[in-house]
Amino acid sequence: MDSEASANRPVAIDGKTNMLSSYRLGSLKLPNRFVMSPMTRARTTDPDRVPIPIEAEYYVQRATAGLNITGGTFISPQAIGGINIAGIYTEAQVDGWRKITDAVHKAGGRIFLQIVHSASVTHPSLLGGETPVAPSAVNSNQKVMTKGGLVDTVLPRALTITEIHAIVEDFGKAAANARKAGFDGVELHGGNIFLVPQFLNTVTNRRTDEYGGTPEKRARAVIEIITAMGKAWENGRIGVKLSPEISGAGGYSATDHVIAWLNDYKPAYLHLRRGFDASDKPIELMREHTFDHFRDLFKGTLIGNGGFDLVTANQHVERGNVDLVSFAKYYVANPDLVARFEHNRSLALPDRATYYTTGPKGYTDYPALSEKS
Ligand SMILES: Cc1cc2nc3c(=O)[nH]c(=O)nc-3n(C[C@H](O)[C@H](O)[C@H](O)COP(=O)(O)O)c2cc1C
Repeated sequence: MDSEASANRPVAIDGKTNMLSSYRLGSLKLPNRFVMSPMTRARTTDPDRVPIPIEAEYYVQRATAGLNITGGTFISPQAIGGINIAGIYTEAQVDGWRKITDAVHKAGGRIFLQIVHSASVTHPSLLGGETPVAPSAVNSNQKVMTKGGLVDTVLPRALTITEIHAIVEDFGKAAANARKAGFDGVELHGGNIFLVPQFLNTVTNRRTDEYGGTPEKRARAVIEIITAMGKAWENGRIGVKLSPEISGAGGYSATDHVIAWLNDYKPAYLHLRRGFDASDKPIELMREHTFDHFRDLFKGTLIGNGGFDLVTANQHVERGNVDLVSFAKYYVANPDLVARFEHNRSLALPDRATYYTTGPKGYTDYPALSEKS
């Protein structure tokens, strides 16, 4: 936990736009360009999936980020895809989240709720024995954490059109609940292989009705979901996280279609996770330019994500091909990431073994700089 990543020394750029410059995100003023990327940390032990006080402590510790985004939160019982992860579909869950948003605001922070439907990446034992649902009956071949430990996903059944409409409505209700819970906005989770990429991708979406086939049709459910989310909010408080690479094989064209549509919708931001770390490989040069490509396609606020350290984040913001940069793994171990950048200090590395375990270990016990020195 104390190991230092000395390669992450920031570059001071006086008088220029950098990670410490403030940013106007619609009607929100962010004091810096740091975003805490959404991370599932599986910390709630509440049987009804209500967030618990230690989660407020965790987000407050990281409240100096320009914007904090919660881990993926389930929109309905059918959306569940793991143990110890909260939902946003009951009054008790809304009340639980309200305590967290109040605490973060009191600490001077801003916080969005990320919402998700797991689609096929779940297991009947998490769904009261029901078969998981997905755009098409395709096993996503993932591992899922259940009470009995890690298990393989099963063959899901294809959603009916009526069921797709019901899921769109559930996203709308979840977004409205996020507002009741005091969040500053709400983000759609399209960054991992859950419902959103499963619709966009031709491997997982084999439908022949209006929700499958052409890029426009594969993008349709995603566009309907974002539209439903915006009913209880201004569009400028809706964020969208996508990963063109995860939507992969045939997903690029549908992803581009969603992004083109977002130009008119004018969301708070587009949060893009780029391809996986390819350091020291020739492909890294292409990955470096991921955001140049999307900067041309999308006219609004762009959050870059995926393998950034403080130096590369600063370089991207300085170059202007992203507006904000989000960090996941470095935010696990460095609650005061902004101060570490400001004071040119090294970064602690996270302990992966405690990513999804219950309790404070590896969660709220990473020290801030002032406590260390
Ligand atoms: C422990 C952990 C949990 C994550 N959970 C989520 C999640 O709930 N929602 C999401 O969009 N991404 C999730 N991610 C992905 C991150 O948000 C981010 O896209 C990815 O880790 C790349 O950023 P990084 O290189 O700064 O870690 C998770 C990552 C980690 C390490």
